[in-house]
Amino acid sequence: MGRKFFVGGNFKMNGTVSSIKDIVHNISTAKTDPNTEVVVAPPALYLLLTREHLDPKFEVAAQNIFDKPSGAFTGEISASQLKASGINWTILGHSERRTVLREDDDFIASKTKSAIEQGIGVILCCGESLEEREKGTTVDVVTRQLDAVNKMVDKEAWKNIVIAYEPIWAIGTGKVATTEQAQEVHAAIRDWLSKSVSSEAAENTRIIYGGSVSDKNCRELAKEKDIDGFLVGGASLKPAFVDIINANQ
Ligand code: G3H
Repeated sequence: MGRKFFVGGNFKMNGTVSSIKDIVHNISTAKTDPNTEVVVAPPALYLLLTREHLDPKFEVAAQNIFDKPSGAFTGEISASQLKASGINWTILGHSERRTVLREDDDFIASKTKSAIEQGIGVILCCGESLEEREKGTTVDVVTRQLDAVNKMVDKEAWKNIVIAYEPIWAIGTGKVATTEQAQEVHAAIRDWLSKSVSSEAAENTRIIYGGSVSDKNCRELAKEKDIDGFLVGGASLKPAFVDIINANQ
């Protein structure tokens, strides 16, 4: 069986009770491809609201977790708290957290381990800056980010990880990677999975693309053999998100 197409909507720090209800209602009532797995990630404040209003056939993700189960960690949320609240996914390692919040590879790996141990699926983000791309180090950067996780989790963990390749220079800029640029890195990630995890992981792990995905460019990207879906930021707040969910039809 092939890899199931996967589309994540990362609302980032956007939305109000009323706008989140509208967005979730729109996604829930739209005609969407039953062969695509859909996961939406609202701000933490709206996780339960989203879970309550979203059609149960879709899943909800946190945008981040902490790597301890409970305790004196002001402002943080744990994987076990998510699980107990019916939130089955989390995004980890998003470039905005790596750069703005200064999270390093090891911390992201530790959080990934914690999520997997609690049965939370992980949308694990990786990607290079413009400077790194221009230096020709894209694949080195991405595999370094993935190696850090691989050192901390067992091979079985990859069954519950979706890798999101998000070139930083394409995020929120309107400057999407070309289909060739994206496919080239996705193929390199699959090669890394084959060499560093297993041939089974290479075959089955979804590698999704993020960075200025829109209803205009999603169909071309979806045709590439190693692009198994998208992680969508800005466009996930708009009705056009439904067209992106249906990009593989
Ligand atoms: O998590 C989503 C990515 O950061 C992409 O964001 O679609 O607004 O470029 P964007």
